[in-house]
Amino acid sequence: MLKFDTVETLNAYLQELKNDGCKIGFIPTMGALHQGHLSLINRAKEDKVKTVCSVFVNPIQFNNSNDLKNYPRTLDADVDLLESVGCDALFFPSVDEIYPNKVNTFYNFGYLETTMEGAHRKGHFNGMAVVVKRLFDIVKPDFAYFGEKDYQQLTIVKMMVKMLNLPIRIVGCPIIREADGLAMSSRNVHLSAQEKTDAVLISQTLMEAKEMIKTKSMHEVKEWAINNLKSNPAIELEYFEIADGTYLKPVIDKMDGESIRAFIALKIGKTRLIDTMELIGAKA
Ligand code: PAF
Repeated sequence: MLKFDTVETLNAYLQELKNDGCKIGFIPTMGALHQGHLSLINRAKEDKVKTVCSVFVNPIQFNNSNDLKNYPRTLDADVDLLESVGCDALFFPSVDEIYPNKVNTFYNFGYLETTMEGAHRKGHFNGMAVVVKRLFDIVKPDFAYFGEKDYQQLTIVKMMVKMLNLPIRIVGCPIIREADGLAMSSRNVHLSAQEKTDAVLISQTLMEAKEMIKTKSMHEVKEWAINNLKSNPAIELEYFEIADGTYLKPVIDKMDGESIRAFIALKIGKTRLIDTMELIGAKA
């Protein structure tokens, strides 16, 4: 795998690929890679593209300085993992390389940036969108791959690509879970053994909600799920929401043909976790 830490050297490599007629598949990450990230690289390979992965802990998408300071940084292990799945290139720029000038871009994603994660992490989505756009400008990918665990992020990236008319196909990839159901996340390394056991309630709640929705109303499912999560005192629930899979608007009644998803954010000890699951699939 080739490694680049400057825009200039990466661009020279990308230009060679373009001259050879290669398509580029881009996987932006903040490092601390796990099987979930590797599944994105593997998914990109199915599209017969050259895979470029970035590792950049983006300071402007953190609204809490301790969270930024404690975000796991494991570059050597990341390199080994990327090599194990045959990633073609890694871009790991410094903060100055990505932000040579002061950032003053403000996007308007409307409702999408005020609901759920947007309500709990002020400024997060603007910071995320700024870095994704900057990385897209540098890499100029044909395809970009994002995990569905950050479903709201994926929805916002799709909106940004539409708004700015960028010629990039955004590919959403399924959540990868541990054997016990816990969604893989870079933040899981902060969980103690007991906290990991407590965290299993998240996916269990989502799976039971998916079963319950077949016979119960949205309101009943939501009330049950909130009580179920709150039944464990180790869990500090931020939200449980049932929303449509396109605009992320809360859903009160079952709608015909719409994809409907449940979304959870909570804290266990000091670690904030999110998860989501489709409860009802869209009808073709
Ligand atoms: O999902 C992430 O890891 C980050 O939000 C992203 C997309 C790499 C932007 O920093």
